[in-house]
Amino acid sequence: MQTVTDAAALRATIRGWRTAGQVVGFVPTMGNLHEGHHSLLKLARARADRVVASVFVNPTQFGPGEDFERYPRTLAQDQVGLAEAGCDVLFAPEVATMYPFGPAASVSVHVPVVTDTLEGAHRAGHFDGVATVVSKLFHLVQPDFAVFGQKDFQQLKVIERMVRDLSLPVKIMSGPTLRDDDGLAKSSRNQYLSPAERQRAPQIYATLTQMRDLFRQGHNWQALETAARARLERAGFTPDYVAIRRADDLAEPATDEREGLVALVAARLGATRLIDNLPFD
Ligand code: PAF
Repeated sequence: MQTVTDAAALRATIRGWRTAGQVVGFVPTMGNLHEGHHSLLKLARARADRVVASVFVNPTQFGPGEDFERYPRTLAQDQVGLAEAGCDVLFAPEVATMYPFGPAASVSVHVPVVTDTLEGAHRAGHFDGVATVVSKLFHLVQPDFAVFGQKDFQQLKVIERMVRDLSLPVKIMSGPTLRDDDGLAKSSRNQYLSPAERQRAPQIYATLTQMRDLFRQGHNWQALETAARARLERAGFTPDYVAIRRADDLAEPATDEREGLVALVAARLGATRLIDNLPFD
């Protein structure tokens, strides 16, 4: 695997592949990779002639007081995992390569409506940062397809909408959420949990599965949201949101809507903010 930090070198390599008619798959990441990321790489590997991954801790998607500074930078370890998962080129740019005029003076991509709610409502500007950096990465890599994790469900919807609305020639694919044996979704943020918090953390997935099961038994979604929030609070979480939404646009369902829904949770456990979701279908 080759590691490239320079945009011109990246373009030259990819131009050679495309001239040879090869299919290019892309997995964008912020590094500190775990099995969840590796599974996205393998999904890309199975469908592409060439696989590019990026590791870039994107400053514009972190709000004030979020963990940009302490976000773990583990490039050497990430390189080993990416090579094992079948990556051909790792693009690991500096901030100045991605933001030549500086992050604060960057062109910004705003995806309306779907970003007004859930994560978007609790993390002002977060999805502008995500959409901006992903569109920049798409312009640099020009992949045939890109793979995103379903764990960041709203992010996936934002990217799908951006690609469709801007007619970007990239197919968006998604990979399932990987979980530990007790159900906790794999996340770089799990390492911040104390041993006692780690024991409690699987309550999020347990709550989501209970919501899904009770919904399938005919319970009303509004009542399930209220009960699930109370359950998480009793377990020591501070939820930002516990919501059942339409999976395609994250809008509130009608009272009697029973198809195509997803439950989503964001909750703090001590200093760590965890997110997870579970589609009902
Ligand atoms: O999901 C992530 O790791 C990031 O939000 C992404 C898509 C790489 C953009 O920085």
